[in-house]
Amino acid sequence: MAVLVTEPFPHAMMPRADHDELARQNATLAFKLHMTDNVYPGDQLVYERKTLPQFERKARRTPKDKAEVRHLQMQEPYTQMWSSIARTLQEMLWNNIGECVERQLPDLMDKADDILSRRTIGTLRLKENFVQPRYLSAVDIHCMPGSYGADLGERDVMAGAVYDRGAYYYAKGLTGPMCDGTGRALVWVFKEMFPTWKPKRILDVGCGLGGSTLPWAQAFPDAEVHGVDVGAAMLRYGHARAETLGIKAHFSQQNAEELDFKDNYFDLVATSGVFHETSGRASRAMMREIFRVLKPGGLSMNSDIPHQHHNSLHDQFMLDWDAHYNAEPFWAQWTSMTSDEIMGQAGFRPADVWEKWRDRDNKGNFTLHDRPKNHADESNKGGIGKGVFWGALKA
Ligand SMILES: C[S@@+](CC[C@H](N)C(=O)[O-])C[C@H]1O[C@@H](n2cnc3c(N)ncnc32)[C@H](O)[C@@H]1O
Repeated sequence: MAVLVTEPFPHAMMPRADHDELARQNATLAFKLHMTDNVYPGDQLVYERKTLPQFERKARRTPKDKAEVRHLQMQEPYTQMWSSIARTLQEMLWNNIGECVERQLPDLMDKADDILSRRTIGTLRLKENFVQPRYLSAVDIHCMPGSYGADLGERDVMAGAVYDRGAYYYAKGLTGPMCDGTGRALVWVFKEMFPTWKPKRILDVGCGLGGSTLPWAQAFPDAEVHGVDVGAAMLRYGHARAETLGIKAHFSQQNAEELDFKDNYFDLVATSGVFHETSGRASRAMMREIFRVLKPGGLSMNSDIPHQHHNSLHDQFMLDWDAHYNAEPFWAQWTSMTSDEIMGQAGFRPADVWEKWRDRDNKGNFTLHDRPKNHADESNKGGIGKGVFWGALKA
C-alpha cells in the first residue's frame, strides 16, 4: 500500500514540491488509489452480471477474444466513466509533476553540475546527434511529456527528474521513494535463484535514470555495473543522482538494439519495464544484442508487465487498457508475446527459459514460485516488478 508523500524524498537531486504542488500530487495519488481499490473491481461485476449474459443471449456464444470484450465493455457507462477518469488522472499526474520540475529546472541543473564538479566514482557517456527510436519519440509514452528522449540542451536533466518523482505517483508507490522497486525485485529474485553467484560485470538495459541499475551496484559493490538508455536527460540526471548517493555505476546513451559493448562481456544482463514500451521488431533486436554481449554461462534476467495467456478475457481487457487509452502503443503486443518466443529467436535455448512469479504469503513475505497448476492466472496480475520474472542462461 502506498503512503502519501511528505517531503523530502531521500536524495539531493529529487525535485521538491511546494505546498500546493504537494497537495495536488497527493490528491491525484489518493484518487488513483481510490480507483484501484473501489472502482476498477466493479467492472468485473458489470461484465459478469450484464454485458456477458446479454452478449451470450444475443450471439449464442461467449466472446472470442480480448478485443471483443473491449468492444462490449467500452459501450458500458460504468466502463466509460472509469476509463475517462483514469485517462484524466494520468494527464493530471504528469501536468502536476511537469510544472513542479520545470519551475526548479535551473536549480536542478546547477545541483547536477555541483555534484559532478566534485570527485566522481561513476561515468557518463552521451552520443552526439543521437537519434531516438521512432517508437519512443512518436508518442509521449504513458502521457509523460516529451517521453524518455526529450533533451532541452546539454545540461538538461528534466526527463530524469520528471520520471523520478512521477513514477512514484504513477505506480501508486510501488516503485518506492527511491524509484528502485523494479531493480530491487530483480536482485531479490537473482539472490533467491543463484544465492552464491557474484556477477562481475552487470548491464541494465533501458536503465532510465538508474533506479533499476543502482540496486545491482549496491548488492554487488565489486562488480562493474553499466546502465544504458536512449534518453540523454534521463542519464544526466541518473549520473548525478548516483553520484550524490555515492553509488558507482557507468551510464551510457545507447540504443539497445545496437549496443557498443564487446561480445561475451557481461555475466548478467537485466531489463525491467523495457519491452512493453518497445516495438516488436526492436524488442527482438534488443534480445539478440543481450544474447551477444552475454558470456557463455551468463544470465539474461527480465521483468515486465505480465504476459496474459492464462488470464480471463475480462482481465486481459483490463490489463490492456493502457494500450488503447494511455499512450502505451506496444503494451498489448507485449502481453500477447511469450518469453520462449522472444528469447528463442535471440539464440537462447527455449528449454532453458524460465518464468517465475513473486507473490506474498499470508505473513507478507515474498515467495517465488513456478506458475501454479490450478488457478494459473492468479499470479499473473501484478504490475512491473511485482508479477512475472523470466530469463535464461546463455549456453
Ligand atoms: C519504463 S522505463 C524503465 C526504466 C528502468 N528500467 C526502471 O525499471 O526504472 C523503460 C526505459 O527503457 C528505455 N528504452 C526503451 N527502448 C530502448 C532502447 N531501444 N534502447 C535503450 N533504452 C530503451 C526507455 O528510454 C526508458 O527509460
